[in-house]
Amino acid sequence: MTNSTIATSNLFKPIKVGNALLKNRIAHLPTTRNRAHPGDGISTDLQLKYYTDRAKNGSLLVTEATIATPKLGWYPNVPGIWNEKQALAWKEIVDSVHEAGGFIAVQLWGLGRVASPALMKEKGYDFVGVSDVYEHEKSEQEAKESGNLLRALTKEELHKLATEDYPNAVRLALDVAGFDAIQIHGANGYLFSQFLHPLINTRTDEYGGKSVENRTRFLFEVIDNIFKVADASKVAIRLSPYNEFQEPGVNPYSKEDYTYILKEFQKRADQGNELAFIDLVDGRYDQDGVTEDINLDYFYKFWKGIILRGGNYTYDQKDNWANIVKDSNANDRTLVGFGRHFIANPDLPERIKKNELLNEYDRSTFYTPYDYGYNTYPVYGAKDESDPDAKITGKPLV
Ligand SMILES: Cc1cc2nc3c(=O)[nH]c(=O)nc-3n(C[C@H](O)[C@H](O)[C@H](O)COP(=O)(O)O)c2cc1C
Repeated sequence: MTNSTIATSNLFKPIKVGNALLKNRIAHLPTTRNRAHPGDGISTDLQLKYYTDRAKNGSLLVTEATIATPKLGWYPNVPGIWNEKQALAWKEIVDSVHEAGGFIAVQLWGLGRVASPALMKEKGYDFVGVSDVYEHEKSEQEAKESGNLLRALTKEELHKLATEDYPNAVRLALDVAGFDAIQIHGANGYLFSQFLHPLINTRTDEYGGKSVENRTRFLFEVIDNIFKVADASKVAIRLSPYNEFQEPGVNPYSKEDYTYILKEFQKRADQGNELAFIDLVDGRYDQDGVTEDINLDYFYKFWKGIILRGGNYTYDQKDNWANIVKDSNANDRTLVGFGRHFIANPDLPERIKKNELLNEYDRSTFYTPYDYGYNTYPVYGAKDESDPDAKITGKPLV
């Protein structure tokens, strides 16, 4: 792969995604970094700098997972978007990204059984999930000790989540914060993945059981209610068909289930509600990233819109970016996404275009609350003069 093959590939051709015209096809994948203000989920000046720096190449940025409603749990230091104040903080970031020439979608997060029962108890919320199957013994023990046992969401609660809580977060994200799109986090063992997985979803009502219609009922109730408050061109979803993270192994019905999901999304697209894109975790994901290549070409067969593929490209530089060039050139509807390399390289698209060396990511600072290891990765040619001992924390934006 020569430098000019990379620079003239589809990667650097503009593409329309929803209503946005992206300048290139290299996207920032959602990455939780714990730099929001603790306690109230308000985004900070550190996040503003992080996203603005990465917007300068005109890429699509998908934000870190952001809590859609506290009823489904949260973690300290992660941002939220369930109230006006949180949305106004995000607006500062969105405006700054737009000014820099970028595009930004917010990933909406519902935790379910992987939330912290003790934290939820402290704030007066029940610990709820698709059913009462704990993630592991430690979670069960924490639930018992805090007196907040995991229970299945009632049908009334599901109805409220689909008709009120998710649409509320979407409205705040699009109308108040001004995001270009929202992305439902349907991946990696969080709420919607939990509904789909037959070993986690043990419900016997119309939201559980063998039929995929039942296990996806809640997802599509949420999606169809979102369409009532948002244009479908501003809605996206992340899916991870071969996920094992926070789940008891890969969903045994993965291919059938995801084929059904894609057909349902395509059906809606054919009726005028086409999603902005489907974000596909491409490969088998565990905590260290993707570890195995899996053929997911059937996604292109059943979904005719844009696909953001990500998770499988971290080691592609050693092949001079052969895979991202191949995948983006294969059709005119593929974006490629990076998590860890975009964390460490604010100017990643430019570096890929010129096939320049990358900064290495430092795993030890992925989830620390300080600026060091967050906004201290230099652009190409600049020197890193940051102080690892400086304990700079973020200031809430509103
Ligand atoms: C620090 C870190 C935080 C992550 N947070 C999220 C997240 O909030 N939402 C999500 O869908 N995936 C999350 N992921 C997964 C990434 O989006 C991506 O799928 C994974 O890192 C593999 O891509 P990569 O090889 O380009 O890093 C995270 C990954 C890392 C390393």
